[in-house]
Amino acid sequence: MHTQVGIIGAGPAGLLLARMLHLQGISCVVLESRSRPYVESRIRAGLLEQGSVDLLTETGMADRLYKEAMVHEGIELVFDGQRHRIDITALTGRKVYIYGQQEVVKDMIVANLAAGVPILFEAQASEISGLEGERATIRYTHEGKEEVLTCDYIAGCDGFHGICRDAIPPQLMRGHDRIYPFGWLGILADAPPTKDELLYCRHDNGFALFTMRSPTVSRCYIQVPPDENAENWSDDQIWSELETRLGKHEGLTLSTGKITQKSVTAMRSYVAEPMRHGRLFLAGDSAHIVPPTGAKGMNLAISDIYVLSKALVAFYKKNDASLFETYGPTCLRRIWRAQHFSWWMTSMLHNLPDASPFDAKRQVAELYTIATSKAGQTLLAENYVGLPFEM
Ligand code: FAD
Ligand code: DHB
Repeated sequence: MHTQVGIIGAGPAGLLLARMLHLQGISCVVLESRSRPYVESRIRAGLLEQGSVDLLTETGMADRLYKEAMVHEGIELVFDGQRHRIDITALTGRKVYIYGQQEVVKDMIVANLAAGVPILFEAQASEISGLEGERATIRYTHEGKEEVLTCDYIAGCDGFHGICRDAIPPQLMRGHDRIYPFGWLGILADAPPTKDELLYCRHDNGFALFTMRSPTVSRCYIQVPPDENAENWSDDQIWSELETRLGKHEGLTLSTGKITQKSVTAMRSYVAEPMRHGRLFLAGDSAHIVPPTGAKGMNLAISDIYVLSKALVAFYKKNDASLFETYGPTCLRRIWRAQHFSWWMTSMLHNLPDASPFDAKRQVAELYTIATSKAGQTLLAENYVGLPFEM
């Protein structure tokens, strides 16, 4: 089988690229190691920047999102027994959208399959080669058979644990890494949201985030040790800890209900440079991950694809390969800004295991600096709502 662009991974990055190439008449094949039900039910991100929603709209994949997403104009920072609202929309003119990543993925799969774009589920790529030659090759296994896909270019959209990043020769690759000494225990619960906006809470016991998926489903996270087993937490313990970290506030009562899903996510910052090697382009989590505080991961995957699709379209439509050279550097400017923002939000709101009383006081003072100054609020809001795709 031969195609113009071989896409490895049917996450938000791979599926968006497939859609954008198809709309320009460029052929592609998507290989995904997991089954369709698996990728459609994987609970992950939930917050989309305005720019991400605009791109989903332009590519005709936002109809259901507009019906079902919850549109948010602000967030609250909760610390030192107080609540401080940041009016994101007043400060930036833009909004954010709450819509589960698995819903985005479902919409993208439907749009691609309806247009006849081949997505092969349970097709595991095992090796890529020919990156420096005339033609790239992907070896994969599908329905028990070894297969080969040849292509002009490979989009490595295979997430953090995929195979593409390792195909770049180690002497050319530099990984920038930071591992945090904590993780998040995330739950989904049949409980209306505690508040109609997200609550980011700093507490001496650790961070807590109150977010949501619908008017009847809450999504909450609490900071836990990185190797914590979710099964060690009973439902009562989770609700009790969420209540403690939220604190007591007039007119705000923790909303509880049946917990339907719980899991622990480790926290890490990572950036791979370069993002391109010959015929291979890395995009999304295969090239970088951020700690989830501030919700940048899926949005970065989307902005990488915006830049990559422009480069591929320029090549196939105008025979202009110059954007291949600038793909990585263009993405990396935004990636590093998002890395800084995610690190900053994480370090401002989490409890470091070895923090001294001085560190805790300084952290609260930093939160006051941001929450009580228009300049501080604006800095947070501009980053939260999403920086321009190209900078
Ligand atoms: P993925 O979604 O990981 O997709 C990669 C795909 O490649 C997978 O389907 C995988 O099965 C497939 N694959 C891997 N190897 C192979 C192979 N060899 N062959 C074939 N297929 C392969 N981001 C946000 O923007 N906002 C948020 O609110 C947010 N919250 C988060 C909360 C949590 C708890 C977590 C864990 C993450 C969160 N993120 C958030 C991050 C976000 O989920 C990721 O950044 C996003 O999934 C990246 O998309 P991707 O397409 O690059 O990679
Ligand atoms: C969500 C996750 C985040 O990390 C965040 O900062 C905001 C929202 C979410 O899952 O809804």
